[in-house]
Amino acid sequence: SLNRRQALGGFFTAGVVGWAGFTASDISVALAQASPPVERPLFPRPVLLAAGDELVATPAHPAFAPQAEAYGYNGSTPGPLIRIRKDEMFRKVVRNGLTEETSFHWHGLTVPTLMDGQPQDALAAGASTEIAFPIIQRAGLNWYHPHPHGHTGRQAWNGMAGFFIIEDDEENALNLPSGEDELILVLRDAKVQGLTRLIYELNPDGHEGDFPVVNGVAWPRTTLNNRLVRLRILNGANARVFQLTSKAPMIVIGNDGGLIDKPHPVDMVEMSPGERVDLLMDLRRVPPGARVGLNCASAEWKLLEINVVAAEPTSWDIPERLSEIEPLVHGGGEPERTFVFQETDRINDERFDMKTIAFAVEQGKVERWRFASARGAPHPVHVHGAHFQIIGGQHTNGNPRRDYAWERGWKDTVLVRTHETVDVLIRFDSYEGRYLLHCHKLEHEDHGMMLNFVVAKDTVEAMRRAEVENIY
Ligand code: C2O
Ligand code: CU
Repeated sequence: SLNRRQALGGFFTAGVVGWAGFTASDISVALAQASPPVERPLFPRPVLLAAGDELVATPAHPAFAPQAEAYGYNGSTPGPLIRIRKDEMFRKVVRNGLTEETSFHWHGLTVPTLMDGQPQDALAAGASTEIAFPIIQRAGLNWYHPHPHGHTGRQAWNGMAGFFIIEDDEENALNLPSGEDELILVLRDAKVQGLTRLIYELNPDGHEGDFPVVNGVAWPRTTLNNRLVRLRILNGANARVFQLTSKAPMIVIGNDGGLIDKPHPVDMVEMSPGERVDLLMDLRRVPPGARVGLNCASAEWKLLEINVVAAEPTSWDIPERLSEIEPLVHGGGEPERTFVFQETDRINDERFDMKTIAFAVEQGKVERWRFASARGAPHPVHVHGAHFQIIGGQHTNGNPRRDYAWERGWKDTVLVRTHETVDVLIRFDSYEGRYLLHCHKLEHEDHGMMLNFVVAKDTVEAMRRAEVENIY
């Protein structure tokens, strides 16, 4: 209604003053239902973390509720962007500036166990540690977030997430849109009470909000050139699955593990929490002055309104080929494992226990893993320590699972829908040690839908050490 539009316009121009007199639920409802107002803050692009700076978990104020005491890194939510090249060494002092424990997990990065920020290695309030690991993987959009057991959902909901981008020569050679023609976006949803509190309930089914937030801004708008643009997107929500659509042509070029084989035009991209997608959006034939949305079909939200303006053409073009993906091959003799994700809190009848190692994987061997959903789906299944390739799956009605363009190449998270199985091939060839398999719907994870496993050259010895000596 007009009132809501005016109220939101007032808010975005006059800061929090415009909200005086609104009750808590009015605000969440208004944010949820408003058509985007005319005046809004400029769309924020992530700020680079300076090489010499520590990464500090801190209180922060989200742009969509500036008076709320929330969390972030180095005072901002989302946190600062980390950019590094393949084969470099990542070194960083990380500090917990909160009054509760947290951990620094590098989602999508293959790192040694003690650098992985697992629940067992959470940092106490006020503590700091030095992180150092080599970047041994290809270019891609990764991210960092907390992983303390039982509290990941609340801390992430409060705003803790940041981008971690790896670059390499292969990607650079493609001349993909960059600079002002590249956007890096974290999508999530939120729910507020007044402008002073984010509402979080540890709802075992997964906590969802009632309005969209992109890079910390509710209902954002941005201006882009009428060129080919690159949108690199992370689903940083606790539980919500986004179905991205647009009137402008969208072409998938990459995902969790970097570039896929070749560009694939798509009408829709479905993303569950933890997944990333790398898209080209073709604005070259959009008339300047027109508005194009990046929409969420499942929630009927306009996630980002793009105001297209005339600009000099560039050399950006859609490449014919992107990368060569080595297909993993399962010889047949190697292990096959099935993981059933049950209701809200279990995998194969087990709830997460920090001291229990569920199984051991032989380093360097290709294994076939099947993820199956009992009730409680969708489950975004995430593995630490290696990437996998999706080779198929089935619905319980017998139909094969669809082959989704955005699931090609290397993945670290895959959406397992209701009554669905997903088959993947995986090979842990980097480090021996303890890693995690879990649901990335953060409330499922916090309730125990997570397992420890070890990667070892000698799996029998590894299980003996885990069970008898309690090592790992
Ligand atoms: Cu993004 Cu184990 O987490
Ligand atoms: Cu789940």
